[in-house]
Amino acid sequence: MSLDSLRDFIAALDEAGELVRVRESVSVDLEITEIADRCMKSTGGGPALLFEHPVLRDGTPSRAPVAINLFGSLRRMAVALQSPSMDDIGARSRELLKTEVPDGLSGKLSMLPKLIELARFPPQHTTEAAPCQSVVLRGDDVDVGAWPHLICWPQDGGPYLTLPMVVTRDPATGSRNVGLYRIQVQGPRVLAMHWQRHKVGAAHWRAMAERRERMPVAIALGADPASMYAASAPLPPAVDEFLFAGFLRRAPVRLVKAVSSDLEVPAEAEIVIEGMIDPAEELVMEGPFGDHTGFYSLADRYPAVHVTAITSRRDPIYPATIVGRPPMEDYYLGHATERIFLPLIQLTMPEVVDYHMPAYGVFHNLVFVAIDKQYPGHAWKVMNGLWGQGLMSLAKVIVVLDRDVAVGNPDEAWWVALNHIDPERDVRFTMGPMDVLDHSSRAFTYGSKMGIDATRKWPEEGFTREWPERIVMDEATRRKVDEKWARLGLKLP
Ligand SMILES: Cc1cc2nc3c(=O)[nH]c(=O)nc-3n(C[C@H](O)[C@H](O)[C@H](O)COP(=O)(O)O)c2cc1C
Repeated sequence: MSLDSLRDFIAALDEAGELVRVRESVSVDLEITEIADRCMKSTGGGPALLFEHPVLRDGTPSRAPVAINLFGSLRRMAVALQSPSMDDIGARSRELLKTEVPDGLSGKLSMLPKLIELARFPPQHTTEAAPCQSVVLRGDDVDVGAWPHLICWPQDGGPYLTLPMVVTRDPATGSRNVGLYRIQVQGPRVLAMHWQRHKVGAAHWRAMAERRERMPVAIALGADPASMYAASAPLPPAVDEFLFAGFLRRAPVRLVKAVSSDLEVPAEAEIVIEGMIDPAEELVMEGPFGDHTGFYSLADRYPAVHVTAITSRRDPIYPATIVGRPPMEDYYLGHATERIFLPLIQLTMPEVVDYHMPAYGVFHNLVFVAIDKQYPGHAWKVMNGLWGQGLMSLAKVIVVLDRDVAVGNPDEAWWVALNHIDPERDVRFTMGPMDVLDHSSRAFTYGSKMGIDATRKWPEEGFTREWPERIVMDEATRRKVDEKWARLGLKLP
């Protein structure tokens, strides 16, 4: 079944037994968070939820149901990206990245399926009536507050759009970006755009400010699940998220021109909020916001979006998520990125065997990396390489281990690391850019990083003592005990 829209995705989750429909009236003011948080904290991420009768802050019923926790489990990510596992998608990207020159005719022919697959990916532009523009409101008819935006946590600065796809364009190259950035509702036609300074949307905004030009923005809510996920993926600025979504779903994303600007949005979106940012205008205070670190982000200054139009389906579904103390739904979106992007990291650092960002490390705080160590200082080389790549540059702590450590299991990674390090010798500090959400750094987005070399140390690295082996039972004994096991009366959990 092709998942072309949010409603297709919800139907697929329903069919897979992954969705619970909540028929009770539930307020968008904190209540949805409390229910969703309990689900997200339950084993495996709990079910996806469709609140059929959300109640707005003024007590009136919402015109749209609210869907939440749609991506919040390994199984649901597999449904969203229509792949048995995220590693399988990684394997597909690895194939695409293989650039050896094919040998002979049969080699050349074997490239064909790859090229055909690629040729099918580009987004399709439609001029036909698009579902997302079935209802069009402009000017004074627009009231953003009429939609079920969540107030997520008690000290939040206001209601938020928490799962938007923000479309912008680079004025110099014309390349498009789609980013998932939270957006605060500040008035019937005013929003505050929380794109952090390291993100592509913010770079577009700075470029527009330099040119002194007003910047169109389109905010799509709900689309095919691959596009929704792609908005959260840290793609290089030149790679179009809708092209990437096309690759993921093996079908193009259909786009339509917005009604008040030249930007394009997914034709299958549920709701689209179109707006304009004037870079000359003073910034507005955004936040505080209960963030994915598990702490509140403090209020700060971000650009105001002036809404020019809202378009929607006739019966839109409003998608949302909440972030907070991990684990939450965003862990599964980030985990998909971790798996899908491994081949990209390996393109420049083939010695990286695997890596993992555990939920409690909230992505930027902790990265475990397993490497195929080939020379003295190799662990430091890998750390420095990672600190030089895209959003990995924001990682606060990187722990490098040998290739035999299953870094996907944080308990194993810490167990080995703590055994292997002489702290004074194996821990180093460096400086660099920090995530906007890091509240501990000495300055905003600037601070120190810690690298831990937890690999086995070599004589060439000054280690002349003998390095002990891991304790593992021999195969013969294991087999003997396997044969006796049923007779031992031992039922272990
Ligand atoms: C649920 C969720 C909320 C997010 N909120 C923000 C946000 O408010 N601001 C931000 O800059 N990034 C946020 N991110 C991270 C970005 O989506 C991510 O860094 C993405 O790569 C940004 O796209 P870009 O690389 O095209 O800028 C969020 C991610 C998730 C999963």
